[in-house]
Amino acid sequence: MAIRAVVQGIGHALPSKVLTNADLERMVDTTDEWIMQRTGIRERRICGPGDSNSGLATAASQEALADAKIDPSELDLVVCGTVTGDMLFPSTSCLVQSAIGAKRAGAFDVGAACAGFIYSLSVAGSMIEAGHARTVLVIGSDTLTRFVDWTDRSTCVLFGDGAGAVVLRAEEGTDRGLIETVLLADGDGARHIDLQAGGSRYPAWDPATQDVRQAIYMAGSEVYRFAVTAMGDACCRVLQQAGMDAADIDLFVPHQANLRIIESAAKRLGLPDEKVFLNVERYGNTSGASIPIGLYEASKSGRLRRGMVVMTVGFGAGLVWGANLIRW
Ligand code: UT7
Repeated sequence: MAIRAVVQGIGHALPSKVLTNADLERMVDTTDEWIMQRTGIRERRICGPGDSNSGLATAASQEALADAKIDPSELDLVVCGTVTGDMLFPSTSCLVQSAIGAKRAGAFDVGAACAGFIYSLSVAGSMIEAGHARTVLVIGSDTLTRFVDWTDRSTCVLFGDGAGAVVLRAEEGTDRGLIETVLLADGDGARHIDLQAGGSRYPAWDPATQDVRQAIYMAGSEVYRFAVTAMGDACCRVLQQAGMDAADIDLFVPHQANLRIIESAAKRLGLPDEKVFLNVERYGNTSGASIPIGLYEASKSGRLRRGMVVMTVGFGAGLVWGANLIRW
């Protein structure tokens, strides 16, 4: 009998500090009207001095484990989608593994930027389906605001921080769980979004590093054009692989980067508004955290219920994109 990777519990964590568009109007030459019209973002949560990527990931994980009623000692694996680890190494997943006391678990990070949770869920689900793990914690966590140039109005209005996590468990004799997944990449587009300083090519200790970009760089309109195509592409491919069509989707939980990008993907799929989950207005683009936070809010508010088919789709730096179909 086929083994399925079923979502058993879910958690999330957000920093308490809120940064509104009105706050940004006092920092750079922007307006609430411009930000709302171009992105749909009204406010976002940003890390304060006491917050960290691993701290948010740990809090989200603890809530997911409690929700699943699973003891950390039962975990075989911790997988964290993040590109903003506390340090270059060790990985965020190892810091979480220690903090939650998952003594038996292996742990690794997946670097797929805003598609980090899509990629991580796919890898974790495949491990379960192949019989290599039975209980896996999957996290999406990012703190991009720690790398934002707060004088650059073209990027500083877009990002927020947060984390979300799910516990996946092997089950047999069920139609619930991960149905299908698609992971895609185009490294030719690497130059469109990057963070150069602090990596091994431009180490933080090297004075020459001062000549390279210290904060997030993004060619907004190139990424916008890519995102609109990529969202539709990943959704169509994952549905085709599953032998399903858009009418089979009960809820669409896309990466929350920009309202206009989400609306164009929903239109391409012919999805009515009530099937499209949105929270970009409150959190902005939280990178790898945005999809699990969306799944969390949708399930806790009753919009996403057991047995429903949910499609997640994401895109980001790499360039990468992908989608997951899950029976909740
Ligand atoms: O998770 C993956 C990461 N990224 C994304 O998903 C981002 C994808 N891209 C986008 O969402 C959009 O390209 C943006 C929201 C970033 C920008 O919207 P746009 O409609 O593509 O604007 P634009 O970059 O073409 O800029 C239009 C104008 C420019 O002024 P000029 O040259 O026309 O005079 C910008 O300087 O808007 C100006 N502008 C701003 N004005 C007020 C750029 N940022 C701001 C701002 N406030 N914050």
